Amino acid sequence: MNQEQWTAVDRYIGDTVVPSDSALVAALEASAKAELPAIAVTANQGKLLHILARLIAARRVLEIGTLGGYSTIWLARALPKGGRVITLEVNPKHAEVARANVARAGLAKTVEIRLGAALETLPKLAAEKASAFDLIFIDADKANIPEYFAWSLKLSHPGSLIIVDNVVRKGAVIEADSDDPDVQGVRRLNEMLAKEKRVTATTIQTVGSKGYDGFTIALVN
Ligand SMILES: C[S@@+](CC[C@H](N)C(=O)[O-])C[C@H]1O[C@@H](n2cnc3c(N)ncnc32)[C@H](O)[C@@H]1O
Repeated sequence: MNQEQWTAVDRYIGDTVVPSDSALVAALEASAKAELPAIAVTANQGKLLHILARLIAARRVLEIGTLGGYSTIWLARALPKGGRVITLEVNPKHAEVARANVARAGLAKTVEIRLGAALETLPKLAAEKASAFDLIFIDADKANIPEYFAWSLKLSHPGSLIIVDNVVRKGAVIEADSDDPDVQGVRRLNEMLAKEKRVTATTIQTVGSKGYDGFTIALVN
């Protein structure tokens, strides 16, 4: 088993179970043209986010880490009329590309992109005292995952899902002495989860066109 095979299987899944449409393809093309890094979720992962949002009948979604808005589109499409995605992005160029991609997908009224470092925009969001989020997708800088998770707990309600991407890191997550801040960010999350009574959580390892990684899903009790 190797990367070539994982990529080929992802392509096959894309050709069968998870076909893309013009808005999703255009979002990836525009992101590539603007030289955004190719680090969006894959189509099958995006569809998993979409299915999870529909399963819990999510109306309000928070995303931390927008990039070109690819996962944002998958999530926004899962919401009923009047639903809302608030997505946080630090990079103005990424936010600009995402805004155009979301508009092209017909979702400009559903999605709000907030520019700024998430550790600054999250307290502002909390201060607004708006309704809690039903689903929160954490997919920004990995070193701050524990802080994002703590904010997610504050901004959620019993029954909310908190999903954290890239938590296996090619297996490096088991390296206790790693000097990689991203690995240490995930390890701190896992230490929190080990003690946290407010959630029921699991982590799934994955392979695919983006390599070997994984995601954590936490259900708020
Ligand atoms: C992995 S990408 C997000 C991919 C996107 N969720 C998708 O699947 O289509 C991570 C994004 O988080 C943004 N980011 C990094 N640090 C951040 C921070 N401190 N606050 C907000 N966004 C941040 C990056 O600029 C990048 O666009």
